[in-house]
Amino acid sequence: MIDLHFKVFRFDPQADPGPYFKHYTVKAEPGERLLDSLNRIKWEQDGTLSYRMSCAHGVCGSDGMKINGTCRLACQAIVKDYQCPEVVLEPLPGFEVLKDLVVDIDPFLERIQNLRPFLIASAPPEKERKQTQAEGKKVEEAIRCILCACCTASCPVSWIQKKYIGPAALVWAFRYIFESRDSDLQERLKQIDHPDGAWGCVNHFECTRVCPKEIPVTKSINTIKREIERRLR
Ligand code: SF4
Ligand code: FES
Repeated sequence: MIDLHFKVFRFDPQADPGPYFKHYTVKAEPGERLLDSLNRIKWEQDGTLSYRMSCAHGVCGSDGMKINGTCRLACQAIVKDYQCPEVVLEPLPGFEVLKDLVVDIDPFLERIQNLRPFLIASAPPEKERKQTQAEGKKVEEAIRCILCACCTASCPVSWIQKKYIGPAALVWAFRYIFESRDSDLQERLKQIDHPDGAWGCVNHFECTRVCPKEIPVTKSINTIKREIERRLR
């Protein structure tokens, strides 16, 4: 067991005059995840600390946060990689803080919902619509998205261009644009053919660097741009 020192962003907008940092020290095994330490802080030291978590295994996407300056999942950050003087935990940048490390992700999800993230058929299918392995391969990376929001929170364009749809939404757009069983390609492309859509991306690549599912986010956005040029111009 080692002593792990944390500096954690705290802010309750309904009670605090402003944000502040609180320090904690917990015992941790080198092979544990930072989420285990966070749980220990909450369960053994300070029950008022708020953060999201559920699966603890990189599946649900709920514990995205800024850890020592990089957005990532606390359940995928291993203690031995953080034996620095202090582990700084902050909420996802660019999102409204609801309390401590919990941010409002409703606007983030609404942007994806507006893209109609489901298959659209031109007519009710009479039989099962099959997909070849090659067709499935085109979207197999995008399908891995767990909506953790780390990409959008790390995107410098999203910080300043508030209407920019953001990299995560564009991954979901990609998933249906290149889906062989979907029938709404033209509309899907038109929906993101504007400066706050696919053209908002200027290739910072921060989204690609932080994606816990190793989705080639920037490359996917550039592929969408080429598809817009090919099909709508
Ligand atoms: Fe998270 Fe990656 Fe999906 Fe972005 S693309 S929301 S970083 S899983
Ligand atoms: Fe589910 Fe980390 S708690 S992804």
